[in-house]
Amino acid sequence: MLLQTDRLLLRRFRAGDAPALAAYRSDPDVARYQGWDAPFPLDAAERFVAAVGERDPRAEGWFQYAIERRGDGALVGDVGVNRHDEGRQAELGFTLAPGFQRQGYAAEAVRRVVDHLLLEEGLHRVHASLDARNDRSARLLERLAFRREAYEIQSQFWKGEWTDDVRYAVLASEWSRS
Ligand SMILES: CC(C)(COP(=O)(O)OP(=O)(O)OC[C@H]1O[C@@H](n2cnc3c(N)ncnc32)[C@H](O)[C@@H]1OP(=O)(O)O)[C@@H](O)C(=O)NCCC(=O)NCCS
Repeated sequence: MLLQTDRLLLRRFRAGDAPALAAYRSDPDVARYQGWDAPFPLDAAERFVAAVGERDPRAEGWFQYAIERRGDGALVGDVGVNRHDEGRQAELGFTLAPGFQRQGYAAEAVRRVVDHLLLEEGLHRVHASLDARNDRSARLLERLAFRREAYEIQSQFWKGEWTDDVRYAVLASEWSRS
C-alpha cells in the first residue's frame, strides 16, 4: 500500500487486478474520453498491470495507482500520475469502474494523491486535461477546487474527430489538506 484514505487504499497494480481492469476499461462509457478503445482485452490488461506494477511512483513519467476499497479489497479504479518538468509538476488521470462511481470514491482518491504530490512530495503544480464533453471529470476537479485555465477549441484529433480540450490546474500555494 502506498497511500490510504478512510475508505480506500492506493497501491501498485498486481497480476490479479487484470480481469477487473479489463472489465471496467471495456465499458464504452468509461472508455469514451480515454486513450484506449473498448473492449480492452484481458491480455492487454495483463501487460498493463505487469508494466505499471514495476514502475517507481517517484520517477518521471506515468505511474498508475490502483484504487482498492478497504474491507472487501474490490478494485474500484485507478489514478494515473505523470510526473514531468524534472519532477516539479504532475498531470493526473482517473478512472472508476461503473459500479463504484457516484459514491465519492474518485474525489477521495484524487484528493489523497494531490495531497501527497503537493504537500508531502513538494511538487509545484498539478494539472489535468479533459475532453470538454467530459462533464463528470470536470465536476470532480471543480469539487476539488482545481482552476479551469484554458478551453482549446478543436485542439485534439481524438478517436476520429477534432475535439475541444479543457485544462485544469492547482498550485501547491493554493492547495490545503482537507
Ligand atoms: C470521472 C469519474 C472518475 C468521476 O467519478 P464520480 O464517482 O462521479 O466522482 P466523485 O468521486 O467525485 O463522486 C461524486 C458523486 O458521488 C456522490 N456521492 C455519493 N456518496 C458520496 C460521498 N460519501 N462523498 C462524496 N460524494 C458522494 C456525489 O453526490 C456525486 O454524485 P453526482 O455526480 O450524481 O452529483 C468517472 O465518471 C469516470 O471514471 N469516468 C470515466 C473515465 C474518465 O473519463 N476519466 C477522465 C479522464 S482524465
